[in-house]
Amino acid sequence: MDNAKDIKNSFNSLDLTGQTAVVTGANSGIGEGVAKGLAEAGASVVVNYVSGEDRAIKVVNEIISKGGKAVAIHADVSSEHQVQEMFKHACKEYGTVDILVNNAGLQQDAAFHELTIAQWQKVIDVNLTGQFLCAREAVREFLRRGVTPKISSAAGKIICVSSVHDIIPWAGHANYAASKGGVAMLMKTMAQELASKKIRVNSVAPGAIKTPINTSAWDTPEAEASLLKLIPYGRVGVTEDIAKAVIWLASDHSDYVNGATIYVDGGMTLYPEFREGG
Ligand code: BGC
Repeated sequence: MDNAKDIKNSFNSLDLTGQTAVVTGANSGIGEGVAKGLAEAGASVVVNYVSGEDRAIKVVNEIISKGGKAVAIHADVSSEHQVQEMFKHACKEYGTVDILVNNAGLQQDAAFHELTIAQWQKVIDVNLTGQFLCAREAVREFLRRGVTPKISSAAGKIICVSSVHDIIPWAGHANYAASKGGVAMLMKTMAQELASKKIRVNSVAPGAIKTPINTSAWDTPEAEASLLKLIPYGRVGVTEDIAKAVIWLASDHSDYVNGATIYVDGGMTLYPEFREGG
């Protein structure tokens, strides 16, 4: 840092210009918010989707209309071949990939004794195996390219979108909680293994965020009031809350952060029941 001006600029900027981000499941919910946020921060964005092509194209068009760069790429994250093709396509389009946001995820809820093998497998395939497959392709590209100092201090950044349910057990959602617990350990192991290659891997763990995955938890005043009992900060989150944390983790502002989970949850993980008990 040469002078005060450089310091000011450096602390002001979360600029991701010149970097390419792949965001999985970016045609709705948290993925959509993150894709738009990363584009606003200057990144070229791959808007991945598995179904709902029209929504993906809408996200891309919204980004482009604001002067950003984006392309929609179809791939089922639980398919090794489709993930490999998506990364090939992304590199062809933008030259390389610098940031992966492992976001695609779903819920298939059931009481434990009624949970089918199909429901178990689907959730593990998308939420956990999907994160592994995308991370592996991203890491292969990061290792091939190495660090480009003008672009970033790191060879690449992976942000796993986890959940408060990587530490909060969740009755009726054993498959989902198990998948997110798996993501927590996958993330930390990748972070430990890849740090010496200048690859940073971290998680953002959202609490209750208003998206299609949990509409019934907040779309009536009664449901929202009941949900708010679990959120000390007193509001349900929005996708921008997650995007801001992801952008920070993708930028060099978090250059010394590796293997961390940031809970963006309004305090949901603080055992709110204990405000009046214990
Ligand atoms: C789930 C949401 C839930 C939130 C808080 C998320 O991981 O996908 O359905 O509202 O955790 O419980």
